[in-house]
Amino acid sequence: ALIIKSECIDVKDGICTTSCPVDCIYEGERMFYIHPEECIECGMCESICPVDAIRYDDEVTGADRAFIEINKDVFQGP
Ligand code: F3S
Repeated sequence: ALIIKSECIDVKDGICTTSCPVDCIYEGERMFYIHPEECIECGMCESICPVDAIRYDDEVTGADRAFIEINKDVFQGP
């Protein structure tokens, strides 16, 4: 799946949602999140984000890897 990283926080441009063919990008309080099971990995959102917040999860390194779990956790029940 693709994930959204810290660059989205308090920016929330939202243009990524218009690029997603399966509507798997959801708005949260301070950032948007990609549903890891709904994402079809088309990559349309990755290049459209003006702050470069979106990446394929397997290409994310370092501290940004925390956002793999952060995106996933949003869609999991308690
Ligand atoms: Fe955030 Fe970029 Fe989308 S700032 S809402 S990931 S276009």
